Amino acid sequence: MSVIKVAILGFGTVGEGVYRTIQSHAEEITAVLGKKVEVTAILIQNKQKKREVREDVLLTTDFAEILQLPQLDVVIEAIVDIEPTFTYLKKAIGRGCHIITANKEMFAHHGKELLGLARENNVLVGYEATVAGGIPVIQTLRQLLKINRVSLIQGILNGTSNFILSEMREKKQSFAESLLQAQKNGYAEADPTNDVEGFDAFYKAMILSRIAFGEEPNWHDVERQGITSITNELMEAAEKLGLRFKHVASISREDGRVVAAVKPVLVGNENPFYHVEGVENAVNVHSDIVGRITLQGPGAGMFPTASAMIEDLVYVCQSHSIEHIGSRKECSKGKPDSEKPKEHWLIHGGIKKEADSAITWIDKVAKDTFIIEAAQKDLEQFVQQQSEVCYFSILGEVDLPVLNKAAVSVI
Ligand code: HSE
Repeated sequence: MSVIKVAILGFGTVGEGVYRTIQSHAEEITAVLGKKVEVTAILIQNKQKKREVREDVLLTTDFAEILQLPQLDVVIEAIVDIEPTFTYLKKAIGRGCHIITANKEMFAHHGKELLGLARENNVLVGYEATVAGGIPVIQTLRQLLKINRVSLIQGILNGTSNFILSEMREKKQSFAESLLQAQKNGYAEADPTNDVEGFDAFYKAMILSRIAFGEEPNWHDVERQGITSITNELMEAAEKLGLRFKHVASISREDGRVVAAVKPVLVGNENPFYHVEGVENAVNVHSDIVGRITLQGPGAGMFPTASAMIEDLVYVCQSHSIEHIGSRKECSKGKPDSEKPKEHWLIHGGIKKEADSAITWIDKVAKDTFIIEAAQKDLEQFVQQQSEVCYFSILGEVDLPVLNKAAVSVI
């Protein structure tokens, strides 16, 4: 029986998860592919560290040694940072290897180039693990929704942020304690700034945008906010209204162009995101034939990520045709800004209330915390005249209980 030879770059949480899964699911992989998969080499950082791998596996700190192996079919990459990863993967493609990556930052920056290079070299790129951990959202968009016209994607795309928000709400833990726990569980990036400031979700959103719409918005036009402005007090205020904070990326086509935002929002019980807790991720895909689909599952961690990579391994080894990413047609013109309906918002901070007919003050929820109704552009204008104010959109139609009508009148 012929053998598929694989190298793994990186032996952290993800790399080790992939190695262990290839061993534990060897029978299933062989049955599906009709060939054995063998890990031949692993790129590591520290040769002294003890690792539980078979003795015949080459452990090296030098990528050149891996490239020189007599047979190498697939390179599975599980390291962080854009470089040297991008360079390694270009070399692997040049050598004729399929590549599989979990590196969203690198892929958001250079995915297009890698896919082009792969096409030229007649190999494939698997990148399911770059978005939403173990949820097969990329294959769903790429393989299973080829004819549907996607109009909107909304997703909880960062497991660490969702975990922190859940811990803060359920266990009343501080932000710092919750982040520490996420790091201990192996969910957070090496530098968790990427998680809690929304960069990680932003990169994932850009990758999804390219698949769903065939293009990305101008990165500088994308509103990106993390979860660091959400306090336990704000969460309690939201809970009184039956709302929960979720960190949501949204990508849509409006007026012929792709727009995106990555930020915390509030959702009510009727929204599928309300029940997405802990390290779970979820993705809502709105499209014209099927309507709304929600995919939900573990968004980070050793085995969910390994699952996405192993499925990609089978995909690249089975496929005989080269993939073509997103060439979807425009499907929704969207509404011009002037026609956009007013939305509900939770606004918090030292608000100097001035007569502003564009803002309707609905309720006072806690000290310095109000529910208002306004169009986004009017709210943005109002906030510019205030200092230290944060605001969060309340997604969809929710029944807001009126708590303090009297208090509103004396704001
Ligand atoms: N740090 C990432 C997260 C890992 O928490 O979602 C998975 O991409």
